[in-house]
Formats: sequence, structure tokens, C-alpha cells
Amino acid sequence: MIRSASRPPMNPLDLVKHGPVIPVIVLQRVEDAVRLAEALLAGGVTVLEVTLRTPVALACIEAIARALPEALVGAGTLRSVADAEAALDAGARFGVSPGFRRELGHACRNLGLPLLPGVASASEVMAANDGGYDFLKFFPAHAAGGVAMLEALAGPFPDIVFCPTGGITPDNASEYLALPNVKVCGGSWLTPADAVAAGDWARITQLAREASRLAR
Ligand code: 3PG
Repeated sequence: MIRSASRPPMNPLDLVKHGPVIPVIVLQRVEDAVRLAEALLAGGVTVLEVTLRTPVALACIEAIARALPEALVGAGTLRSVADAEAALDAGARFGVSPGFRRELGHACRNLGLPLLPGVASASEVMAANDGGYDFLKFFPAHAAGGVAMLEALAGPFPDIVFCPTGGITPDNASEYLALPNVKVCGGSWLTPADAVAAGDWARITQLAREASRLAR
């Protein structure tokens, strides 16, 4: 366990200072974790969201947090308070959730784990904002209305910043990043499953390099 709460909790919006894209990472083998993280760092991507979708995800977060303190590793797919506690214990510096639950928002605040909660509608924005959050994951971005939806949400919610995730690609990322209420995008395109399985770290570094150069 390398619980990271001894550090002062960062403001979730600090994540956007590190670059325009947060890679959404799915790892099947612990031995790939550090090598994948090194490949992303080499391409200029330092914020890493390792999703809790595989049995090895927590071990991967712990391995990256121990080996690469220069990486800002977080846990994605937080669905419960127990997920948030386990992520923090593994060394996650932030959490990302596909949706918003008041208990989860409250627990993350008490734990000192910065959280990026997910929303897909005006009512969900209001619930998350009421829970104290103003930097939100817009998920699933493409399926939930994409750029047009984010433009529409800017009207009633001028104080909310979004990280669209879900259906973002190198071809459409710039369109999202040009929106005033978008500071960063999330996506899995930087870490294709076949490249990770084959250990093609050079390809991942190249994808990271291209993503980190996207204008916003
Ligand atoms: C997520 O898992 O958070 C998103 O679904 C990632 O979506 P993508 O695979 O379309 O980038």
C-alpha cells in the first residue's frame, strides 16, 4: 500500500496544466504497466488514467506510482467508495468516474482524492456541481451529443469545465479542445490494445507525442 494522502490534495483542474489529453488506459498485465507509462512519458504525456476494469489495475497503479514519481497516475472507472479507497491505497493521485454519485463525491473529498466525476446531461451537471464539483468528465462524449451538447451546456453552466471522453479521436480532438469550456480530452487511442499486447512502446510514444502537441 502506498496511500498518497500524505501529499496535499491537488485541485482536479491542475490536471489540465499537464497537457491536452488524458489517456484512458486498460492494462491486462502488471508487467506492462511501467513500460507503458514510460512510453507515454517519453511522448510528453504525464497524466495517466488507469481504469479499474481489469483484476490487475490496482497493482498496475501501484507499480507506476512506485517506479515513476514523475508520472501523475490516477484511477479511472471509480464506481464505489471502496474503489476510491483502494485507488488511494494503490497510490492514485486522482480519480475519474463514469458518472456521479453523491456518496462517491463526498468520500473522495474526505479522502483527499481529487475526483473528475462523469456527467452526460444538464441534471447530472447540476447534481455534480451541487456536490462541489465544477470540473467534470463529459461521458460518453460522442454518444451524448458531442461538441453541440458541450456548446449547449455552456449557456446555463458558464462556470463548468469539461473533459470530454468517449469517442474522441485524433481527428476530432481539436474540435473539442477549441471549445471554451473544454480544457482537456480523455481517450483510449493513445494506448491501442494491440500495441500494448505486442509491447510496441515506440508506437505508443509516437501517439503520445502527437496527442501532447494538440492545440487548445
Ligand atoms: C472511457 O472508457 O472512459 C471512454 O469510454 C474511453 O473512450 P474511447 O475508447 O472512445 O476513447
